[in-house]
Formats: sequence, structure tokens, C-alpha cells
Amino acid sequence: MKFFIDTANLDQIREANALGVLDGVTTNPSLMAKEGIKGEEKILQHYIDICNIVDGDVSAEVIATDLAGMIAEGEKLAALHKNIVVKIPMIKDGIKALRYFSNKGIKTNCTLVFSAGQALLAAKAGANYVSPFIGRLDDISYDGVDLIKQIVHIYRNYNYETQVLAASIRHSMHIVRCAEAGADVATCPLQPILDLLKHPLTDSGLEKFLADHRK
Ligand code: G3P
Repeated sequence: MKFFIDTANLDQIREANALGVLDGVTTNPSLMAKEGIKGEEKILQHYIDICNIVDGDVSAEVIATDLAGMIAEGEKLAALHKNIVVKIPMIKDGIKALRYFSNKGIKTNCTLVFSAGQALLAAKAGANYVSPFIGRLDDISYDGVDLIKQIVHIYRNYNYETQVLAASIRHSMHIVRCAEAGADVATCPLQPILDLLKHPLTDSGLEKFLADHRK
């Protein structure tokens, strides 16, 4: 399973990268705004900065919602760095844009996916990644991980190459359950990754080993 960090915060990206387990980065317009990155020039430079930290796929989202706009923005983003993945929303013109970029060999991530039908469309349009938002489904009382299982099952039935990128992950158990469900990638903030480290028996066991060593 690949681990991506879901943030535009460069310090957190550096910290996750230093762990040696980071495979990529996902961002979205809300995450960029949270870091105060505004204006086209600054946003594009920020993506380059991220690509210079992490050697892996970096999803950069288009703002346009019409086909021509998504194509223009996506091509500009893809030209920034070889690791940029153009993030396209799950809308009608988005499907057309996924097909366009797929035909051109530009990597894509279809975002804001909340159903298996949407995931099927994204795969058929040639998306490299599909991003089901599991935390937001949990928020409205659906089990987000069930959707991951369903999409993995469908993709395996037809050998789709689209990778299932579980997004909107809120805690470490989400990561573990997505791994059990067969997600190719989990993207989440830094904290759930760090929380995977924790077990009280590890802490007490280590304390005892060190105490015995000192005796
Ligand atoms: O990757 C999608 C993610 O950024 C959304 O997360 O916590 O806003 O639902 P959240």
C-alpha cells in the first residue's frame, strides 16, 4: 500500500518524507488556501516546491469546471514537473478531461468520488487514480470503507489499472481498514500516519527492556 500525505504544508511534507515511508502527496484548493497560498504564480511555485521535496506523484487540482478550462489548467500543471498528477473533479466535463489527458499520457486523479458508479466511470475514462472520500461518507452515516471494498472488487473484475486512492482519511484505523480492503493508496494528514506507530505495549515493553539493560 502506498502512503500519500494529504496537505500543502511543506513542514509536514518534509516530516513525513523523512520517515522514509512517503510515496506521494495530494492537495486540493482548500488545503492550498489553508496554507495561505494565493494567486496563480504562488500556487504553481508551491507545487514545484512540493515536487522538490518528495520523489513521488503529487496531485494538483484544477479549478476550472468546463472542459476547455480543465485542459488548459491541467496542461499547465503537468508541465511543471514530471511527478504532477492532474486532479479532476467527478463531473461530466471531468470525465471528458480524464479521457483527454489519458490519451495524451498525462497522469490524472479523479476526485470527489462517493459512489461505485462514479469510480467505474473514472476507470473507463482512463484515470490513473480514483479518490473516494471515505471520511465524508462516514460523516453522513455511510461506511466509507465499504465503498473502497466495492470499488476494489469492481476494478479486479475487469482488471482496470486505475489505482484506488482512499482519501478523506481521518484516523489510523481508516488506514488499516483501507489496507484490508485492498486500497492501492491511502492519503491522509501526517497525524494518522504517526498514530500507526502507537501501542501501549510497545511503550511499556521498551521501558522494561531499557530498565533491565540498566541493571
Ligand atoms: O483527500 C481529500 C481530503 O483532502 C478531504 O479530506 O477531511 O476534508 O474530508 P476531508
